[in-house]
Amino acid sequence: MADIAKTSPRMLKGLAPRPMPSGNPYLPQTARVLDVIRETATIKTLRVVLEGEDAMQRFHFEPGQVAQLSVFGVGEATFVINSPPSQKDYLQFSIMEVGEVTRALHRLTAGELIGVRAPLGNFFPYADWLGKNIVLIGGGIGMAPVRTIMLHLLERASDYGQISLLYGARTPKDMSYQYELADWLKHKDLACCLCVDKADSDWPHKVGMVPEVLKELAPSPQNSLAVLCGPPIMIKYTVETLLNLGFAEENIVTTLERRMKCGIGICGRCNVGSRYVCTDGPVFTCREVRAFL
Ligand SMILES: Cc1cc2nc3c(=O)[nH]c(=O)nc-3n(C[C@H](O)[C@H](O)[C@H](O)COP(=O)(O)OP(=O)(O)OC[C@H]3O[C@@H](n4cnc5c(N)ncnc54)[C@H](O)[C@@H]3O)c2cc1C
Ligand code: FES
Repeated sequence: MADIAKTSPRMLKGLAPRPMPSGNPYLPQTARVLDVIRETATIKTLRVVLEGEDAMQRFHFEPGQVAQLSVFGVGEATFVINSPPSQKDYLQFSIMEVGEVTRALHRLTAGELIGVRAPLGNFFPYADWLGKNIVLIGGGIGMAPVRTIMLHLLERASDYGQISLLYGARTPKDMSYQYELADWLKHKDLACCLCVDKADSDWPHKVGMVPEVLKELAPSPQNSLAVLCGPPIMIKYTVETLLNLGFAEENIVTTLERRMKCGIGICGRCNVGSRYVCTDGPVFTCREVRAFL
């Protein structure tokens, strides 16, 4: 089966073909849970290792691509692979508990098996961004896709201009990846700003909602591109702020979420307007979203 990750003949904006599963795309590959990290009250991170000789080495994906994770006997749901492609020891997923499948994923412990259908969907067209300043903006669980593209860009930071991150959560306790934040804050190639809607007394970073803090930071739109992932309400107001700052719609990149079933463009479950999130997305520019909605 998913002798995973052949590449599709379909090209994205002149980039390399996207990786995709080979074999029967409905058949999950098994993966063993290596580690479970409690991030916040509602989010856990799972690190999983694909079973089979060299399976991790043979698995290729691009930042932004997703997986259908299945808990046997319960069901399947979609999550972005938030480790960078260079991480060959495990695949990482951060999962917010909202319903049946995510509850079952939260119950998993190290050593248990899950199913993985991946990689699915398109990816952040980072090869089109060479030489540009990249403004990364993540809110809540939206930090998951931002984490993968951020770590990928930082590995090749000399190919880009300034890379900056604005990561917002409701409160300090709602921030995922706390064990990495200190490294992000002092990373020589990253201008990192953390913000929360409501702070406690020892919060040393910004207080305010993401759009407000972004307005204050006022990144220049010149030779710049913004990547924005988060809840719909944050996206709405942050896009407004970016447009007011002078960012063009084609230079604002986001990810869309729609409930998926097949993940391969057949069942029609994930359409947004005339497009399928599972094959045309999940990565879109604001201009694309406006055109097809
Ligand atoms: C491309 C993509 C990437 C995603 N990446 C992540 C990720 O990295 N981490 C993460 O925690 N979640 C992610 N999600 C959302 C995740 O797939 C859903 O939360 C999950 O399917 C819920 O399954 P469930 O059985 O637990 O909930 P259900 O019982 O099916 O639903 C619980 C509630 O969540 C709503 N819901 C379910 N799925 C979605 C959805 N896709 N969009 C909006 N509302 C939904 C339902 O309407 C319902 O109100 C992603 C979704 C997509 C499409
Ligand atoms: S999930 Fe079936 S078409 Fe997208």
